[in-house]
Amino acid sequence: MGIVKSAIIGMAVILAASYFINRPEREIPKLPNTWWGRGPAKEEDKNIKPFKITFTKELVDDLKVRLNKTRTLQPALEDSQWTYGVDGAYLPIVIDYWLNKYDFKKREQFLNQYPQFTTNIQGLNIHFLHVKPKNHKGKRVLPLLIQHGWPGSVVEFYKILPLLTTPREEQDFVFEVIAPSLPGFGFSSSAVRPGLGSPQMAVVLKNLMLRLGFEQFYTQGGDWGAVILANMASLFPEHVLGLHSNMCIVLSPWNMLKMILYSYFPSLLLSAEDYHRMYPLSTRFLRNLEETGYFHIQSTKPDTVGVGLSDSPAGLAAYILEKFSTGTNPNNRFHDDGNLLKSFTFDQLLDNLMVYWTSNSITTSMRIYAETINKNYLKDELNTIPITVPSACAQFPHEISYQPPSLIKHRYKNLIRATKMPRGGHFAAMEQPQLLADDIWTSIAEMEILRKKEVKN
Ligand SMILES: *[C@@H]1O[C@H](CO)[C@@H](O)[C@H](O)[C@H]1NC(C)=O
Repeated sequence: MGIVKSAIIGMAVILAASYFINRPEREIPKLPNTWWGRGPAKEEDKNIKPFKITFTKELVDDLKVRLNKTRTLQPALEDSQWTYGVDGAYLPIVIDYWLNKYDFKKREQFLNQYPQFTTNIQGLNIHFLHVKPKNHKGKRVLPLLIQHGWPGSVVEFYKILPLLTTPREEQDFVFEVIAPSLPGFGFSSSAVRPGLGSPQMAVVLKNLMLRLGFEQFYTQGGDWGAVILANMASLFPEHVLGLHSNMCIVLSPWNMLKMILYSYFPSLLLSAEDYHRMYPLSTRFLRNLEETGYFHIQSTKPDTVGVGLSDSPAGLAAYILEKFSTGTNPNNRFHDDGNLLKSFTFDQLLDNLMVYWTSNSITTSMRIYAETINKNYLKDELNTIPITVPSACAQFPHEISYQPPSLIKHRYKNLIRATKMPRGGHFAAMEQPQLLADDIWTSIAEMEILRKKEVKN
């Protein structure tokens, strides 16, 4: 452990030093409305077209043939469960469900229960759910952009949507929710040229909201959704009324140094619970190494790994479901079934896989890593521009990493709330819709009180 710790300290000191030496005075950069479609930029088709998900007979027949032809998978080593990745002795149960029990017609209807649309933004056809409150008499309707990440999709939001669009007696507002598929994900088209990383996606999503007539709106996200909406809040504060995030992590050199200092003097700076969530650093660091191999692959060679995943539904299921297992609780890897059904149903998990399979988007979705984690991005430090809009963090105990408010505030300058949630993991909207919805309501109610005060002054 000594070596790991010294290596981390060394790295952090060098990074922090270089940061402070080169620290420029930041102006908010102006990102262009890049054309991501084929050919030269042209006039966008501004129409907003209704959209329905269809599982065509050809698609389903082909999928069934592939599922039925799955080769014999290797069972996990003795007593290893999911620690080497998905257990090949368990996956056939998922494949059998997909092939024989998943009701494609019914699930298609289920997925089409909310109004969906597409519209062209910067050459990309962007798909989104747009759910208005049914009965909002006497309530102000607030637009809320809610954003999924990888390897999720809009499917993550099917349970939380009614919780946000049904008025609550104690609040004088209700939400109108816009849930887009990220570019390259599901039914949104992908860029044809390099460069569409997280900050550029913030531009696309901001333009989508403007297209829909929302000059100002609230935002909520987890995973890449959280990263992109943090970028949106820092790049376009004039459009973002407030940010609610269930993945508030600030990875600046200064913060890395602080995390190491805290590890030496924890009791001075941290509560016992914060300590438990963050340390020992060596364990956290090794754990991150174990669970983030995919991150390195996707940041470098997404297209290569994409070939197998887009050609084999068993491969796609293994790759994505492993994330839903360990992302929900790291201890799930010690269970033969990855504890998948403890938090989700097969239908829910397969609905998400069907979004990737139907649209053949696994490869393009993984490119977000390569387009974000690269030299240009790190050089521009677009991920450290301060966020000045009111922000709230819902901190689920099994989230990939935890930072106390003192670290989050390094970037979130106007952090009004950080709530330690009682249970739940990385896919909070899908796993704990009620807890997440309650925290969104409470946080935005506080932001609305602030906003009313501001309007008065
Ligand atoms: C799977 O393949 C076998 C052998 O060809 C066939 O008998 C069976 O009907 C197939 N099952 C499905 C659900 O397509």
